[in-house]
Amino acid sequence: MKNKIAFVVGVLTVGILFSLSFLADNARVSAMDQAEFNSRFGIFDGAICPLSATQQQESIEAFKEMVPTFQHPRCANCHGGGQPFQANTDHAGGKFDLVLDADGSVLTEPTFAECQSCHGGLPGWEIPRSRFSFVGKDAVELCQQMKGELGRADKFIDHIARDLGGTPFIATAFAGMRGLNEDGIDYYEALNDRKPVPEPPPISYADLINQAQAWVDAMGGEFKGDDGCGCEPQKYALQIDESLVAAFVSENARIDWDGQTQVQIPLTFKDDGTFTGEATSSRTMSAVLTAEVGCSGSSTSNVQWQVNGRLDSEERWIYFSVRFTPSMGSVSCNMSVPLPNPVQLPIPIDDSENPNNPLKQMEMSAYVGETETVKLNTNVVGSDVTDTFVITIIKLE
Ligand code: HEC
Ligand code: HEC
Repeated sequence: MKNKIAFVVGVLTVGILFSLSFLADNARVSAMDQAEFNSRFGIFDGAICPLSATQQQESIEAFKEMVPTFQHPRCANCHGGGQPFQANTDHAGGKFDLVLDADGSVLTEPTFAECQSCHGGLPGWEIPRSRFSFVGKDAVELCQQMKGELGRADKFIDHIARDLGGTPFIATAFAGMRGLNEDGIDYYEALNDRKPVPEPPPISYADLINQAQAWVDAMGGEFKGDDGCGCEPQKYALQIDESLVAAFVSENARIDWDGQTQVQIPLTFKDDGTFTGEATSSRTMSAVLTAEVGCSGSSTSNVQWQVNGRLDSEERWIYFSVRFTPSMGSVSCNMSVPLPNPVQLPIPIDDSENPNNPLKQMEMSAYVGETETVKLNTNVVGSDVTDTFVITIIKLE
């Protein structure tokens, strides 16, 4: 009996040593469609933020510099603070009615034409739609709004520096006079018993433009990742779920293995968009020997994981390699009949060092939730090994 088991184990080891053939599921086509869709329609939800920890810190700090200006009454009163169309408005000039078309949509020109009688100091004086409100929003929310609404860094700078070439709202805010014309000033004076004085934001317009540029520079010159990238710390990991199923069948016996592990490999980005990560996971392996006298057992051993890669923030695509080093081991197999010692069944050998291993040349769409499955397969005579890796991009809280 002992001899028979030794024979089985010997052949088995040889079988598994055959080089593995690979079947990599290639999800690139569908993932590409997603990325193309996103870049065309500007939906960057879940796009990985490729900024290094230092860049993230610096850009968060740089954005904060602008917040007192955004929250200053000269900006915030137009951006949600003043509500001249609400029934209970506290707008100094009184309540106004929105001019609507037959379908109920706001007609911009006639609606805001009335404002000119007092705010004619700025031809085109109007208030933005509610989603551009700055009121009640903290630095992170304002930052996400700038990124989401404007989409590109150059557009943000252009907006701050010259209102995209349209009505000079920001320059008017820095003049501090609420766009009031002569009549508006008289109206103000009648209400307050004094003439309005300029009350601009605490910094100069030139300073705001410099702060805007400093924020963009801290992010490497462009808006990257999703709306939160450069606004609040973002951390990602590659989650790998490995399952190894192997069988060896000989004339008199059969051994089945079943192994599982899950690991989350946190990614550390450098300023140039490259990243690394490492982690250890514990893999459980169970084995069942079916022979004249069967046995079964299980064990746990460590697997070391390493990833190296880079993110192309324009393509929103990541390229990386995964190295995994399982510790060699065996399963103590307890016989169904008492024998002096348990039989050691060797764990099938992983082929992680094979240069053709697709885990060394991975590429995926750089979005949270993207997942890719790689199967390493071998079917040499008598043995059948399938090592499956499901790789998912996750966001760490
Ligand atoms: C007279 C009203 C008014 C004032 C004052 C004003 N804005 Fe605006 N702002 C607007 C309007 C209108 C839009 C366009 C939004 C739209 O398309 O509906 C806008 C858009 C923006 C946007 C782009 C949309 C967004 O929210 O991301 C930014 C940024 C912005 N303003 C910043 C400022 C800053 C900073 C100040 C103060 C220095 C300021 N604005 C003062 C009316 C104003
Ligand atoms: C009858 C005169 C008058 C008319 C018409 C008028 N306003 Fe005003 N509005 C004022 C005065 C005066 C102030 C300044 C109040 C203060 O700062 O104490 C003001 C302030 C504002 C502010 C805040 C500006 C800031 O920098 O703090 C907004 C926003 C505003 N008005 C929007 C409108 C809109 C929109 C219309 C047209 C639908 C309009 N107003 C029409 C008199 C008027």
